[in-house]
Amino acid sequence: MNTKIYRKLIAKKLSQDFKSSVEIVELAISEPTGNELLIQNKFVGVNGGFDTLLCRGDVPYVNLIPPFDLGVEAVGEVVALGENVTDFQMGDAVVTTARGGGYREYQVIDANLAVKVREVTPEVLTLMPTGVSALVALEQVGEMKSDEVVLVTAAAGGTGHIAVQLAKLAGNHVIGTCSSEAKAKLLRQLGCDRIINYHKENLNQILKQEYPNGINLIFECVGKQVFDTCVGNLAIRGRLVTIGYISEYAVNVEQVLQARIYHQLMWKAASVRGFLMPHYKEYIPEARDRLLNLFYTDKLKVAIDSTQFNGIESIPAAVEYLLTGKNCGKVVVRF
Ligand SMILES: NC(=O)c1ccc[n+]([C@@H]2O[C@H](COP(=O)([O-])OP(=O)(O)OC[C@H]3O[C@@H](n4cnc5c(N)ncnc54)[C@H](OP(=O)(O)O)[C@@H]3O)[C@@H](O)[C@H]2O)c1
Repeated sequence: MNTKIYRKLIAKKLSQDFKSSVEIVELAISEPTGNELLIQNKFVGVNGGFDTLLCRGDVPYVNLIPPFDLGVEAVGEVVALGENVTDFQMGDAVVTTARGGGYREYQVIDANLAVKVREVTPEVLTLMPTGVSALVALEQVGEMKSDEVVLVTAAAGGTGHIAVQLAKLAGNHVIGTCSSEAKAKLLRQLGCDRIINYHKENLNQILKQEYPNGINLIFECVGKQVFDTCVGNLAIRGRLVTIGYISEYAVNVEQVLQARIYHQLMWKAASVRGFLMPHYKEYIPEARDRLLNLFYTDKLKVAIDSTQFNGIESIPAAVEYLLTGKNCGKVVVRF
């Protein structure tokens, strides 16, 4: 019998940059047993920040020792079933979000960890876990309300463009930051109320001039000076949710010597809160169903970056591309 081979990307050593940490390996496809599914991945989501930090050994809650598997979300097709599987059939479209299940052509996974979806598309893939993260962060950590001013940084990115729409759907005035006219165009289409292209306008000046009462809720993805500006412009009882700090992922951590942020928080009774999806797992199923419903009823749009990345070998370039900040919408790799 001919053994079928597949390829996956692994981190072979810890390194400052993703590209020099990874290598492609070939393995035999294993048959699923018991309650397992064999899935052929078709589209995988690129999380350039997380991938880079993981390969540097800078993700404290996992602390992996190389070699380890990479990639998180994938959408694909069930191509074989273990003998105990009852809820899936051959050809079913499924999304998986297990760490290590993304950057590989095939994966064997417990059926309980796969979610059946209508079709194998990058849009459905983007809703989970990227869209789910945006929703849970806004609602559970940011305590999103209506009739407030919400600021989303990296607003035209994979996570940001979903956050913008969810904040609009909740009835808020939404400000989005971005770095190009193409991204501003996407944000206009999504109904963003005030788009700040920070290459043309100064974020701090605009916030001070146009929002003198401050910002009630900030969905902050960028870090560094953007984070400082956001903290400085919080409203009374404002909430800043730290989603990420992508401006630091590709470079070494900067030494910061400045006043501690409690000076800025206490007088406004404002708060800065961290968000990490794995610590909010219990909200995932409801968030996923709500997002899919919004998507299928045309209330939520999903933007996929138009740059084509094909095959395992394109993943390092896709990660690098995301970290240059050029992407508009979610970056995906197609197999
Ligand atoms: N905490 C969690 O559980 C969780 C879950 C998902 C995502 N995240 C985080 O959410 C953020 C967005 O992730 P994503 O995967 O959806 O990426 P993304 O937003 O699709 O892409 C990154 C965007 O960040 C912006 N950016 C601003 N300054 C940058 C810089 N110095 N270098 C690179 N990019 C810069 C760029 O947009 P502009 O140039 O237009 O600003 C770029 O398009 C990241 O910080 C990520 O780590 C966190």
